[in-house]
Amino acid sequence: MTNVAVCGSTGSIGTQTLEVIETEAGPWRVSALGVNSSVDAVVEQAHRVRPDVVAVAAPEAAAGLAARLPAGTELLVGPNAMAEAAQRADVVVNGVVGFAGLSVTLATLEAGKRLALANKESLIAAGPVVQRARLTPGAELVPVDSEHCAIHQCLRANNERARLDRIVLTASGGPFRGRSRSELSEVTVEAALAHPTWSMGPKITIDSSTLMNKGLEVIEANELFGRVAGPDAHDLGIDDIEVVVHPQSIVHSMVEFSDGATIAQLSLPDMRLPIGYALAHPDRITTPFGRIDWAETGRLDFEPPDYESFPCLGLAYEAGRAGETAPAALNAANEVAVEAFLDGRIRWIVIPDVLKVVLDGHDGSRASDVDAVLAVDAWARREASSFIEGLN
Ligand SMILES: NC(=O)c1ccc[n+]([C@@H]2O[C@H](COP(=O)([O-])OP(=O)(O)OC[C@H]3O[C@@H](n4cnc5c(N)ncnc54)[C@H](OP(=O)(O)O)[C@@H]3O)[C@@H](O)[C@H]2O)c1
Repeated sequence: MTNVAVCGSTGSIGTQTLEVIETEAGPWRVSALGVNSSVDAVVEQAHRVRPDVVAVAAPEAAAGLAARLPAGTELLVGPNAMAEAAQRADVVVNGVVGFAGLSVTLATLEAGKRLALANKESLIAAGPVVQRARLTPGAELVPVDSEHCAIHQCLRANNERARLDRIVLTASGGPFRGRSRSELSEVTVEAALAHPTWSMGPKITIDSSTLMNKGLEVIEANELFGRVAGPDAHDLGIDDIEVVVHPQSIVHSMVEFSDGATIAQLSLPDMRLPIGYALAHPDRITTPFGRIDWAETGRLDFEPPDYESFPCLGLAYEAGRAGETAPAALNAANEVAVEAFLDGRIRWIVIPDVLKVVLDGHDGSRASDVDAVLAVDAWARREASSFIEGLN
């Protein structure tokens, strides 16, 4: 059996991972569950899957928890608990939201294990550090983000990397596609949370509404498939990664070769497919979780993104071009801004202003090690918070 640690098990990715493992008669058993503070939900999950370990990041949430877990399940508590649980597994699904997922990403790769990565923020914020960890013998990173899973599949089917010219990331466009900047000045939290094609956690749903999610994915694609060291190395830069809006979310991304031939991956918008792909790779799961009905689909539309209404996308390219710790600054500012929007402290339209102020003040320092990344993350959070306080 393959022992799988599901980090962020109570979230959208985590619960769907458990569903894939429970549905597919695969070789997997859930050996660890990791959460921040949702203890009632993790107790229910633990009685269902009987893991070896439950890891809880927030100590204040864990009081009295050990007695509620099944016999034989160990409880680990604190900020390093999930990383420790990850190191004991064979495969780790990182479904933690935000920069908090960095310790799991690094612990898994440094232990030479397979990382099924949904937590894009860790790769984006700490790109150079994660790239070094990927060089650990046995370490393997299989993306769970649907676009990167699609690119992974396209490249695997056509492994002619020297002839690869362009990566095209598709974007649904989010709930505000087609709106002008002036029409977006007073959008509500409820409207921003109403994603047209995907059902996801609140942070990534807001990122999708601002197109920040696509911007983060451009940086993620550059780290995974761009000009980097490691097994996925080849010669593409961030400006060879293009975004196209595709409202039906059927084409999950494409690769284009030197002769103009384009290979795309298509499936229904359902995260259980990329989760199953990352678990089973290089095999495939046998449960389809939905098939495309071509008569029903009718048409597939494509249009360019609107950089004026959605400035976060352009800011992400800017941070991606600067590299080193600039993406860490962008990511931290975005996490602070999204939280402030969800709490009603800033308007949706102000989110890109927060990112711009922080990026403009960033000193261009190198991501020489994890401490350098943590320092920029902390600095950017302070800058973003003080800018937001100054607005009110
Ligand atoms: N949802 C999707 O369809 C989707 C698609 C592509 C990529 N992703 C990426 O996958 C990641 C997870 O997204 P999601 O939508 O599943 O998020 P979510 O539904 O909000 O779930 C987040 C999970 O992370 C845990 N968590 C939160 N803060 C934590 C902390 N400080 N330390 C440890 N664990 C913490 C939560 O535990 P508690 O319940 O205890 O708070 C929860 O289990 C994100 O990076 C997102 O960009 C998601």
